Amino acid sequence: MTDLVNKLIRTELKDLVPYESARRLFSMANAAEVETTWLNANENPYVPTVSIDPSMYNRYPDFQPEPLIKGYANYAGVLPEQVLATRGADEGIELLIRTFCSSNDNIIICPPTYGMYAISAKTHGTGVITIPLLEKASSNTSNLQLDVDNILANKQKANLIFICCPNNPTGDLVNIADIIKIIESTADDCIVVLDEAYIEFCAEATSVSLINKYDNVVVLRTLSKAFGLAGLRCGFTLTNNNIMDALKKVIAPYPISAPVAQIAAQTLSPDGINWMKSKVAELNALRDSFITNAKTWSFVEKVYPSQTNFVLLKLNSKLTAATAMQTFQQQNILLRDQSKQLMLKNTIRVSIGNQQQMEQVNSIFSKVEQSL
Ligand SMILES: Cc1ncc(COP(=O)(O)O)c(C=O)c1O
Repeated sequence: MTDLVNKLIRTELKDLVPYESARRLFSMANAAEVETTWLNANENPYVPTVSIDPSMYNRYPDFQPEPLIKGYANYAGVLPEQVLATRGADEGIELLIRTFCSSNDNIIICPPTYGMYAISAKTHGTGVITIPLLEKASSNTSNLQLDVDNILANKQKANLIFICCPNNPTGDLVNIADIIKIIESTADDCIVVLDEAYIEFCAEATSVSLINKYDNVVVLRTLSKAFGLAGLRCGFTLTNNNIMDALKKVIAPYPISAPVAQIAAQTLSPDGINWMKSKVAELNALRDSFITNAKTWSFVEKVYPSQTNFVLLKLNSKLTAATAMQTFQQQNILLRDQSKQLMLKNTIRVSIGNQQQMEQVNSIFSKVEQSL
């Protein structure tokens, strides 16, 4: 850091470690020379067919382009005025923090979870209250559930509560009854943000109807996962008019570029949605057979249940996450080491690829098994 930057940079940013996105760890440019299998960012291995019409690119786009907003509202079963399109769900996260938190405020996060809630809060100078998920053996969905009592005990200190459902990187749902209890008990204190980035992989589990029932609920969505458009950067914040009006005070004047709006609207047509659903069915089947295989490997201590397009594996002393990562990397397959996350020592996350990629993954793990 130069003296000038050191003098001027906000104090809280001096020691901040930026989010290590999958693409910062391994860029596409570095991998260009060899054919790389990307199973480290929970992307869709398939791309939808889309077209662009540049004839109006000399004009600024509409603030919230109508075909896009109507298309998403129709797909999600909400009203167009309840939809805000953003530059990915990540912008939705940042916008919520910029709108509802100052430097004296806090957000609540429940790790292990998606890293951008904390990073966005910290870059904005907002505090982060960490209330880890609890191991609950009797739960019928997952062992990892919200610590409701602890969250409620901290509700007056926080403005936003981020709940990721299904959760990344563990892959499972948290109990809806707990979510509702938190929403109802924080009605006068907090906005509860339900991150449904992976909801298409378990569509019946959506909480989207809660935005009509409660005043303090926001649902985040994205086209980056099931819709196969991570490169497009398009997400949605779904909420009531009051929260929406506040967010619209802060968002950029032209948040969605014209090509993004055009492409995204096409993928929300009936044909586009059918394409997405057929890919989800295929990826869910590949995920389930991967889970069946993973349960037979002696180096796997635990296969986390998954309702998403990724599976988290906890490894035992026979194999370290670093060795597993290296073994795959040598064959140009990128997985994600999650061992740095709270409670996730020696874990790797495998995004579900196409059939041929998953056969390769299964075969590499089988060879590891034979070599032990
Ligand atoms: C849980 C979760 N929320 C939000 C995002 C960000 O999505 P987007 O690509 O729409 O910014 C991700 C991306 O991996 C995610 O896993």
